[in-house]
Formats: sequence, structure tokens, C-alpha cells
Amino acid sequence: MLFAIALAVSLLANTAPTHETGDFTYNGFRSANLSLDGLAVLTANGLLKLTNVTKQKVSHAFYPDPIRFKNSSDGAVHSFSTTFVFAIVPEFPALGAPGFTFVIAPHREFPGARPGNFFGLFNETNDGNATNHIFAVEVDTLQNAELYDINDNHLGIDVNGLVSVNSSPAGYTENDIQGFRNLSLISGKAMQVWVDYDGTQKQIRVTLAPVNVGKPNTPLLSPSFDLSPIFKETMYVGFSSATGTIISSHYILGWSFKVNGQARRLDLSQLPRLPRVKKKQKSILLTTGLPFLCLFFLSILVFAMAYAIRKQRKFAEVLEDWERDYSAHRFKYKDLYVATKGFRDQELLGAGGFGRVYRGVLPTSRTEIAVKRVSHESRQGMRQFIAEITSIGRLRHRNIVTLLGYCRRKGELLLVYDYMPNGSLDKYLYNQPKLTLNWSQRFRVIKGVAHGLSYLHEGWEQVVIHRDIKASNILLDSELNGRIGDFGLARLYDHGTDPQTTHLVGTLGYLAPEHARTAKATTSTDVFAFGAFSLEVACGRRPIETREEEEVVLVDWVFSCWDKGDILEARDPNLGTDFVAKEVELVLQLGLLCSQSQPTARPHMRQVVQYLEGDLVLEELSSLGISRSGFPFAFHEGFSRSGTAYPSSADNAFSQTSSVANGVLSGGR
Ligand SMILES: Nc1ncnc2c1ncn2[C@@H]1O[C@H](COP(=O)(O)OP(=O)(O)O)[C@@H](O)[C@H]1O
Ligand SMILES: *[C@@H]1O[C@H](CO)[C@@H](O)[C@H](O)[C@H]1NC(C)=O
Ligand SMILES: *[C@@H]1O[C@H](CO)[C@@H](O)[C@H](O)[C@H]1NC(C)=O
Ligand SMILES: *[C@@H]1O[C@H](CO)[C@@H](O)[C@H](O)[C@H]1NC(C)=O
Ligand SMILES: *[C@@H]1O[C@H](CO)[C@@H](O)[C@H](O)[C@H]1NC(C)=O
Ligand SMILES: *[C@@H]1O[C@H](CO)[C@@H](O)[C@H](O)[C@H]1NC(C)=O
Ligand SMILES: *[C@@H]1O[C@H](CO)[C@@H](O)[C@H](O)[C@H]1NC(C)=O
Repeated sequence: MLFAIALAVSLLANTAPTHETGDFTYNGFRSANLSLDGLAVLTANGLLKLTNVTKQKVSHAFYPDPIRFKNSSDGAVHSFSTTFVFAIVPEFPALGAPGFTFVIAPHREFPGARPGNFFGLFNETNDGNATNHIFAVEVDTLQNAELYDINDNHLGIDVNGLVSVNSSPAGYTENDIQGFRNLSLISGKAMQVWVDYDGTQKQIRVTLAPVNVGKPNTPLLSPSFDLSPIFKETMYVGFSSATGTIISSHYILGWSFKVNGQARRLDLSQLPRLPRVKKKQKSILLTTGLPFLCLFFLSILVFAMAYAIRKQRKFAEVLEDWERDYSAHRFKYKDLYVATKGFRDQELLGAGGFGRVYRGVLPTSRTEIAVKRVSHESRQGMRQFIAEITSIGRLRHRNIVTLLGYCRRKGELLLVYDYMPNGSLDKYLYNQPKLTLNWSQRFRVIKGVAHGLSYLHEGWEQVVIHRDIKASNILLDSELNGRIGDFGLARLYDHGTDPQTTHLVGTLGYLAPEHARTAKATTSTDVFAFGAFSLEVACGRRPIETREEEEVVLVDWVFSCWDKGDILEARDPNLGTDFVAKEVELVLQLGLLCSQSQPTARPHMRQVVQYLEGDLVLEELSSLGISRSGFPFAFHEGFSRSGTAYPSSADNAFSQTSSVANGVLSGGR
């Protein structure tokens, strides 16, 4: 029985190529026999996919057999009915591409037909020509002004050409509910279309609704139109589509057709599924997400660049070619900045004549440092200055604060020293200090400074004159050893060259009279300053002090005590009774010896060390021919306060800074 039917069908198919009944239904197109061309394909799960992403191409999908629509060539067109479910998935959510048509045409091939708005049915020459015999319902998602399209989301009835006979924006009127509802054709959602032709009334009705809603009673389009002149006896039915520059994917999910009767309902549950929405999400991601992402990264990039530029400016340094030789002594400003936590006030150790000194910890080696920021504008003499300080940087002595290196910025020089945890000596001496040093500690410091200075004068490859020995430039390390600091100031003299300088460096009270007069620093002027320093330490007083409105010159006073035969009276009362009289006496006498006006009368630092270490015995001062007239301050000989530019270091650091800095930085030996 089954076999007989199959045989009959196949016989029918073979013997009668024309589908006389014109009745078929596709609930999905799996294993359907359609005539496809162009981009049209049937997908594995049974979708009729009219277009893919290839641009400017046409596609056709036709029921393979011609269908009889008329009894005779001049007869009337039979009624027919069709319904199909479609979905348009746009490449870009907001942009429509050429749509597709349901078409009834005398043939399945359209040679010379153009893609894009021509839907693969017409071209410029034959568009609108009555010889076409083409009837189509367009599902149009592009507005083409030349074709009088009403918008970019409409359905239209086309006869022989692209200018619609009748068209309407996509939408529907739901049964039993008032009002028209718009539908977006490119929403990617499945929708159903019904096309009915009433052969007696000569009326076409086109109805649209979302899938699952059911056929609305009110059609979208219902023009009276006689298709008889258009149709030939037999026609092919199918779909055509085309791609332009913007592409949508057009899917037909199911289709049924019938001549002389109602097309069968589609079984919606059997329709194939549309491709995963993932694709749509991806495209959303690509179209809206990507620009956002780009913007995001761009702004990050801009911020990063701005940050980098700011950072570069912030950490900008001055580095000249000649400095390559000193690169080992060069510090990165950034490292110093990090080390001192941005030179914040909590890290400030003190402010001296040259600038502020900050404590820091080097990020890599974790070593503690002291960074002195010296402001300077002049570039002159910088090279010589750097040469000198780096040379001093190679100098290592347990009584000298090691200069680790330097860094240069615009208008600023940074000197990096070993950190001295106990700070400078002066704060242990004057004005009822919180902490004071006992005699053995003081004696050790004095001996240390003598050793250090002696090393600078004679122990090293070059003669180094410190020029500014004073209590505030002596720093105490963790073991309370005295160390000579502030080498930014010192100048170098090669052995044998005539020491001469045009600028005065030093601090009042420590300044030898001939130094003040001639502005020439020598080892003897350092010895003079050392004398003032050792008296200062032993007596706990500044070299020149104002007491009860009277200026007290320390040397003068110590001399008077000695003269009276009680030099020990000059000692610091803070020492109490805990001191070695012989040592205090030695230091005071040595201090006087070094403080003599006559440079040649002063001992060398080497001798000072020997006296202090007890290797040489200091003779009675009187036997050395010391007298009051031998001291500079007693009669203010060769020394006039108004004549010098140097007030006491403590009260006018600023003027000292500029003049001393000039002296150092402008070179001139
Ligand atoms: N290497 C160092 N370690 C610890 N503290 C230091 C160091 N160098 C300087 N200081 C501190 O910074 C202060 C100012 O130093 P400085 O500029 O040398 O003073 P001045 O110019 O008055 O001699 C000092 O009094 C001392 O407390
Ligand atoms: C498909 O239809 C065409 C045209 O009617 C016919 O020649 C062909 O044999 C059919 N193919 C199948 C597999 O049915
Ligand atoms: C589009 O379809 C045509 C015809 O099936 C095919 O040749 C082409 O490779 C397809 N292009 C893409 C990008 O899938
Ligand atoms: C075709 O025409 C004949 C008369 O010419 C008529 O009997 C027949 O019913 C028509 N067929 C249809 C399907 O209308
Ligand atoms: C237009 O289409 C017709 C029929 O399909 C074809 O004969 C003609 O050559 C085409 N013209 C152009 C310019 O492509
Ligand atoms: C319509 O097409 C036919 C045949 O292709 C042609 O002879 C005729 O001139 C065309 N008419 C118009 C108005 O273009
Ligand atoms: C439907 O769309 C048209 C324009 O296409 C608009 O004027 C109308 O307000 C819309 N109606 C609704 C209910 O959104």
C-alpha cells in the first residue's frame, strides 16, 4: 500500500512536472528539495538561510516545480494562500541591510539581476517593465528614497518592479486588542507572514505577526489588485534576497503554500531553532563593547602617559656628558626621592648653611643615608666641583663622613652621605643640652677629629683643606666617634700647587686672622679652626659668645684662665668632677697653641695627633713663648667685625649660604 503511494507519487512527479495541486508545507527544511542559488543554503538543522556575510551577492530559493495559477492564459488567477516564518539577524544591531522577498515569478533564474535593493530580481533596465511578470512581497529593512520606500522597516507589495504598489510599516493589530503594534524586522526574532490572494475579490492581503501570536484578523496590507495580467499559467514560488554593503542574515524557518485553499498551518513546535543568540551577543560586544573597550584602554593609555610624563618631570635630572666618568658616584633622583619618602618634613635632619639635610634609606641596599639638598643656579665650576667631591668620595677614614655620591637636578645639587645616627656634635654642647657627653667621650671625639683632619692634610693623595671645621660639622656615628662632615665645602689642593683662592669660606670664630685678611685657606687655617673647636668641646661654649651684653671671646678667656694659673677653670661645668685633669689641660693648652695669630706658630695636625695620643709631650706654654699678644682676638688685631661678611653661623645662615656656595661653585683656585 505504502509502496503503491510512493510509486504513484514518483510517477506523478516524473510524468507531470507541473505541480497541479500547488500544496506543500515545510515545517523546517531538513531534507527539503528546494532549488537554491547564490548565497542560499539549507543549514544542517533545517533552516533556509538566504544570505551569509558575503557582500553584494544575490540568493534565490524556489519550490522546485512550477505551479499552475490559471486554467488558461487569459483566465483569472486562482486564489492562493501562503505563510512563512522568518527571522532577520542583522550584522550590526541598529543597521538594516537589504531585506528579502516572497516572490512568484515565471522562472527561477534571474540573469543580470542585481544585489542590494534589487533583491536579486531586477536590474536598472528591467525594473518596472510589465514583461517581467513578477509578483513579490518585500520585507524591506532599508529605506531607499528612489524607490519611494516609506521607511527602513516595512512590508510592501511589488509588481514587476521595486516601487511598491502598496506598503506599510512593519507591525500588527492583535486580535481583540485595540491599536497597532510596531515590529522591528531586524530584531532577530522570528515572525510570521501570511499572503492571501482572493481570486474572486481580486484582493491581496498581507499579514504580519510575531511568531506564536497567531494570525491577526486585520491584515497589514489589503489592496484590491487583479493579478491576472501579471501571472502566467504556471509560475514558480520562492524567496529571493540579496546582500549589500551591510549584511543581515535572513532565515526562513518554515513555509506552507496552497493554491485554491488555505495554506496549512505551520507546526511552530517543529520549526528549526535559530542559531545561538551567542552570535548576536558577540556582535553586540563587537559593536558597542569594542568601542567602549577601546575608549577605556585609550583613556588608560592617556592617563598612563600623563602619569609617566609627570613622573619623568618629577624625577628629571641634569646629566651632562662629562659626568659619565663619575657615574659610579651618581645617584638617581628617583631613588633619593623614594629613600627620603619624598623629602618629607619628618625625615628632615636639620638645615645648615647650604640647605636642608634629610634622612633616607636606599631602596635597594637598605643602607641609611643623609641627603643634603644644595640649591644652586650656576653651572660654572660644576664640573670641577663634581670632580672634587667624587674624588673625596673615594676617601675612606673612620673619622670622616663618607660621601657616597651626588645627583644633579635643575637648580639643585644633592649630596649623599653616610647617615650618622647621633647627629652633629654641637647639640651636645651648648645651652644646657638634653644630652651631654662625658669627658672620655669628648676626648675621643677631639682625638678622632684630629686624626681625620691630619689624614686630610697629609695622609691622602691630595691635600684636602676642609675650611669649615666646627662643632656643627662634626657628626657622631653610632659609637660616638667624631667624624668630619660637610665635604661639599672642602676644596682640594694638589700637593705642591700654590694654594690660592678668591673666596672666603668659613665661620666666624673659627676663621684664622690671616684667612680673613687674605681669603686664602691653608692647612694652618684648618689648624686654627681645630683649635677653636677643641676649646669649644672642652669648655662647652661657642668661640664667640655674648654674655651679659658683652662679647666673650673663648680663646681670650681660656688664655686669661691660663694666665691666672688655673686653666682648668675654663672647662665645661657640665663635666662635673668626672674628668681627667691632665687630658683637659692638654686639650685646652693645645687649643691655645692652635689659636695663635701667627700661622707658623701653630702646630701641624700630625703633631696635634701626637700630642693627643701622648706620643709627644707638650711643653709648658710659657716656654713656647706664648703671650696674650699672640692671640687674634685679645686686641682685635687684624680682625674687624665690620670688615667681614661673616656673621655667626647660627644666626644668618642664608647670607652665608650664598657667599659660600659662590665660593665653592664658581671655581677659581
Ligand atoms: N651625614 C649625616 N648624618 C646625620 N645627620 C646629618 C648628616 N649630615 C648632616 N646632618 C644633620 O643635618 C644638620 C645640617 O647639616 P649641615 O648642612 O652640614 O649643617 P651646617 O651647614 O650648619 O654644618 C646637621 O646639624 C646634622 O644634624
Ligand atoms: C528535486 O526536484 C527536482 C525538480 O523537480 C527534481 O529534478 C529532483 O529529482 C528532485 N530531487 C530530489 C532528491 O527529490
Ligand atoms: C556564503 O555562501 C556562499 C554560497 O553558499 C559560499 O560560497 C561562501 O563561501 C559563503 N561565505 C561565507 C563567508 O560563509
Ligand atoms: C479549469 O477550467 C475548466 C473549464 O475550462 C473548469 O472546468 C475547471 O474547473 C477549471 N479548474 C479550476 C481548478 O478552476
Ligand atoms: C537586466 O535583466 C534582464 C533580465 O534578467 C537581462 O536580460 C538584462 O541583460 C539585464 N541588464 C543588465 C544591464 O544587466
Ligand atoms: C520592457 O522589456 C522589453 C523586453 O525586454 C523591451 O522590449 C521593452 O522596451 C521594455 N520596455 C520598457 C518600457 O523599458
Ligand atoms: C511605530 O512607529 C512609527 C514610526 O515608524 C511611530 O510614529 C509610532 O509612534 C510607533 N508606534 C508605537 C506604538 O511605537
